[in-house]
Amino acid sequence: MSSNNPQSNPKPDLDESINVTQAHGRVVRESAASAREKRIADNGHEPASLGIIVACGIVLLIAGGVLDNAGVPFKYGDTFREGYVREKAPGGGDEEPLPKPALAAFSARGAKIYSKCNGCHGADGKGDGANYPSLAGSEYVLGDTEKFAMIILNGIQGPISTGKTYGAGIMPAQGTGMSADDLAGVMTYVRNSFGNSSGDVVTVEMAQKALEISAARENPNTPVTADEIAAKHMAMLPGEPLDPTTPVNPVNLQPVE
Ligand code: HEC
Repeated sequence: MSSNNPQSNPKPDLDESINVTQAHGRVVRESAASAREKRIADNGHEPASLGIIVACGIVLLIAGGVLDNAGVPFKYGDTFREGYVREKAPGGGDEEPLPKPALAAFSARGAKIYSKCNGCHGADGKGDGANYPSLAGSEYVLGDTEKFAMIILNGIQGPISTGKTYGAGIMPAQGTGMSADDLAGVMTYVRNSFGNSSGDVVTVEMAQKALEISAARENPNTPVTADEIAAKHMAMLPGEPLDPTTPVNPVNLQPVE
C-alpha cells in the first residue's frame, strides 16, 4: 500500500469542506428542540399540561356550585330569603308620628279631603256667587253639626241656608268612599277655614254617628232639603267633645297619652 493512498490520509479532505454556518445552525436547532422537551420527573412521569389543569379547575367550579345547592343548580331561595322584607333603618322614621293638637291635625286631614269640594266651592271657599254658594259664614256649615254632615254625605237640593237656589239647583252627594276620619277632618277644616272659626273639633266618633244617621234616612242617597234639615237635622252630632288642644296622632287622629 502506497503512502499516498487517500483513504489512509488522516488529514481532512479540504475538498469536502465543512459548511460552518450550516453545522452551527443545526447545533442551535437541535439544542433548542431538546430544551423544549418537557422535563421528566424522577419517577419518570411527564408534568401535566396547563390545559388539563385549567379544564379540571372549571369542572370543579361547576361541580362545587351544583353540589352546594344539594344538586339543584341556581337555588335562589338560599340567597334571597322567602318573604324577606327590608327593615327600616333605626331612626328611619317608622316610629309613631309626632302628635299634633287635635284642631291642627283634623284640619290638616280635612284640607286634603277638601279637594273634593274646591272644584265647586273654590280653594278660598267663597264659591262663585252664581252657581256655587260660599261656605264662609254659611249657616249650614256653622252651628249644629248634623245638618252639615247630612249635606256633605247626601248633597243638597236648594233653596239653601240663604233661601237662594244656586246654579243647577243641586249639590251631588260627596259621601261615597268617605270614612269617618275623612268626614271629621273635612267638617273640622271647613268650620275653621275661609274666615269660619267654630274653634271646635268634629271627632271621629261624631262623624261615625253621622254616617249612621245618614244611612238611616227615610230616603237615603237623595239630596237633603231645607225642609228635611229643619225637621230632622238641627242638632249637634252626639259624642264627647274633644279639647282642640289635645295631642292626637295625625295619622289615625286618635288622642295620644
Ligand atoms: C259639583 C259641585 C259641588 C261639589 C263638588 C260640592 N258642592 Fe257643596 N254645593 C254645591 C251647590 C251647587 C250648592 C247649592 C245647591 C243649591 O242651591 O241647590 C252647594 C251647597 C253646599 C252647602 C250649603 C251652603 C249653605 O249655606 O246652605 C254646603 C254646606 C256645601 N255645599 C258644602 C260642600 C262641601 C263640604 C263639599 C265637599 C265635601 C261640597 N259642598 C262639594 C255644589 C258642590
